[in-house]
Amino acid sequence: MKLLAIETTCDETAAAVIAEPLTVLSSVVASQDELHKKFGGVVPEIASRAHVERILPVIDEALRQAETMLTELDAIAVATSPGLAGSLIVGLSAAKALCLATGKPLVAIDHLQAHIYSCKLAGAIDLFPCVGLVVSGGHTSLYRCDNAIEFALLGGTIDDAAGEAFDKIASLLGLSYPGGPSIEQVAAGGNPQQYRLPRSFIHEHDRIAFSFSGLKTAVRYQVAPPGEMPRPESLSAQQLADLAASFQESVIDCLVEKSLDALKMTRLKTLAIGGGVAANARFRARIEAECKKAGVRVFIAPRGLCTDNAAMGAIAIERLHAGLIEPLTLDVRPGLVR
Ligand code: KG4
Ligand code: ZN
Repeated sequence: MKLLAIETTCDETAAAVIAEPLTVLSSVVASQDELHKKFGGVVPEIASRAHVERILPVIDEALRQAETMLTELDAIAVATSPGLAGSLIVGLSAAKALCLATGKPLVAIDHLQAHIYSCKLAGAIDLFPCVGLVVSGGHTSLYRCDNAIEFALLGGTIDDAAGEAFDKIASLLGLSYPGGPSIEQVAAGGNPQQYRLPRSFIHEHDRIAFSFSGLKTAVRYQVAPPGEMPRPESLSAQQLADLAASFQESVIDCLVEKSLDALKMTRLKTLAIGGGVAANARFRARIEAECKKAGVRVFIAPRGLCTDNAAMGAIAIERLHAGLIEPLTLDVRPGLVR
């Protein structure tokens, strides 16, 4: 069994060839960070135009690196939800065209389920059942995952995603995009206890929810009082490091606490984590330590597969085995599917 997986949900154009038993034969990612950098976030129209230019070369390269011909594939898989509509359409159109030309079946991938499934690529053979945490630029959600097909949303953010908060705070502090890695770097020299910042829902153990907009506002008011323009240059290097560290710690505390709440609520003993923010070393160390204390197994996606990629589309193999093949009339579903 061999399939081609395509990923264009946001601002990465990616393709991978995956074989069974689970092996990633190639994984090609064309990042658009350079295009969105000057805007401090992803511009949807720029993202979809860049996908159009890059999708075919990226697919060609993935097939070339895997030394695989289209005719050798068993299926074409593509992420169809959630994401930016204009971006999703590019990947789906390419996948449909390939299916039409080759007669291969089309398999749909849920991008968030794929982020959780990427833990399998870290060697988590017996991952299910588990609690899955997706913590990325667009989503911060906890799921009950009974198997590779059945995912039930336990709760998520009521406003911003954690990664989005990293990106916005980085921009406020004059740090470069994407904000996560910049904040992580600066925070390494800071004191995470220096600033007292909010941690939403942290004491509501029976509610699985996140909120980061109040935290963003609190950080902004540390840079300048209400009514004054925040100027990051007014902060000393130490203040900047302390503020970045305090912000990062607040986000991590919420992620850790709510993951533990979800584990208690479901009585499951395994936690699987994926998404861009899961690349954060401080987060990885904290959640690993807390899970050890709680007697829970934790699997985190390999660092290189935390941000968007097509290798995590390996979940499509499980769908194909379950007979979940889509018609070529399939459409994208940009919103969160519950
Ligand atoms: O999963 P991803 O590539 O895209 C979405 O599906 O949204 O995640 C991108 C997000 C960005 O917001 C980025 O700032 C964040 O992941 N990120 C990090 C780190 N690396 C990437 N956040 C915190 N620490 C990091 N090291
Ligand atoms: Zn993602």
